Amino acid sequence: MDKKFAIIGDIHANIDALNTVVEDARAHGVTDFVCVGDVVGYNACPAECIRVVRDELHAPVVRGNHDHYVSTDAPLSDFTELAAEVVKWTRRQLSAEDVDWLRNLPYSKLHMGFTIVHSTLDMPEHWGYIFDNLTAEASFAYQKTGVCFYGHSHVPMVHQKSAAGIVRLEPGEIQVPLGSRFLINVGSVGQPRDGDPRASYVIYDTKSRVVKFRRLEYDVEAAMGRVLAAGLPERLAQRLAVGR
Ligand SMILES: [Fe+2]
Repeated sequence: MDKKFAIIGDIHANIDALNTVVEDARAHGVTDFVCVGDVVGYNACPAECIRVVRDELHAPVVRGNHDHYVSTDAPLSDFTELAAEVVKWTRRQLSAEDVDWLRNLPYSKLHMGFTIVHSTLDMPEHWGYIFDNLTAEASFAYQKTGVCFYGHSHVPMVHQKSAAGIVRLEPGEIQVPLGSRFLINVGSVGQPRDGDPRASYVIYDTKSRVVKFRRLEYDVEAAMGRVLAAGLPERLAQRLAVGR
């Protein structure tokens, strides 16, 4: 059955951005939400964001690195000092039920004919980044579906693999015909890092086979205010304003 999906990810506890994205998706006829991970971390509303994604949107979700570190005792040596501080703060905000939910998220998932993963399909538990044709190639080697959506770098990006090789496409409106393979970074809802502070996500219409990138202004001031009110580092508020 054809559907309109919203693929969202790297929400990072930013409820203001998440609510704006959900409203926009619904206004565009989206019925199904899917999440490529990092529901929590960096911002001030982890429990609220879990509630929306899990209980309101009923979205299939894969595990992001922040979801992983918040819900396990894994050492935080791979994290910057700033990120590690928020991981510890986030642990204190969540119920045992929320932590359990995060801890049981799968690394990758096949859903309705496409794949979702947070980082890469070749070694999802290593949290590597896809940023060029070489790293895209490694992930494509494990991709069994035409389309795979992912996140992690917070930078929207599209790679297409064909017999001629791998090409990078502008994240805009992408036709994803059957028989061709695409690896699509949907960007970040709650902490964009491409210099554009607007929330990022995509709408995938399985009937027209079009993936459309959306960028949305949201109440950044409100999100910044929540970070500061929670006593989280000021830098985390400031980066929301500049999209870095
Ligand atoms: Fe992230």
